[in-house]
Amino acid sequence: KPSLEEMLRSSIRNIPDYPKPGVMFRDITTLLGNARAFRRAIDELVHPYAGSKIDKIAGIEARGFILGGAIAHQLSSGFVPIRKKGKLPHDTVRIAYSLEYGLDEMEMHKDAIEPGEKVILVDDLIATGGTAEAAAKLLRQMGADIVAACFVIDLPELGGRQKLEALGVPVRTLIEFEGH
Ligand code: PRP
Ligand code: MG
Repeated sequence: KPSLEEMLRSSIRNIPDYPKPGVMFRDITTLLGNARAFRRAIDELVHPYAGSKIDKIAGIEARGFILGGAIAHQLSSGFVPIRKKGKLPHDTVRIAYSLEYGLDEMEMHKDAIEPGEKVILVDDLIATGGTAEAAAKLLRQMGADIVAACFVIDLPELGGRQKLEALGVPVRTLIEFEGH
């Protein structure tokens, strides 16, 4: 049986110079398309929380929706989408965050989380941590008790984990890649 590390490393596709020269894109569509790898990744991400009551999984658009939906099902939790601005139909809370170039905004429905609910934040990858940090702040603003933030991939050189840990959010990741 291949190790978790071997399975993840061989099922994630590396695309050089995408979306721009010098960037190695870590493509998880190949992991998602591999039934064993997909199940293994979800099982590994959730096993520390099995048996504890997690009210909601908050997934970051768009790949965080796929992983977050599977995690929510596995933990028998609800699912809450954190979306790019303008996509949610009801009243929202919104936060600005910085990307490599410029600013963007993400939002959640303002009634998506009850104060005190236990929430796990999910995305596919943490790089600088800017996206996840903004999502964590939005969740806290709504009174969420953030139990953890989970990602398949960590790019440790970019320092995202430290950014979340500085907010008091425990971080769980499955595999690290060099560079950005
Ligand atoms: C990628 C990835 C994370 C984010 C991580 O999303 O899916 O959401 O970057 O980067 P950070 O830790 O430096 O904030 P991207 O911004 O490419 O958008 P997408 O998921 O909508 O494609
Ligand atoms: Mg993303």
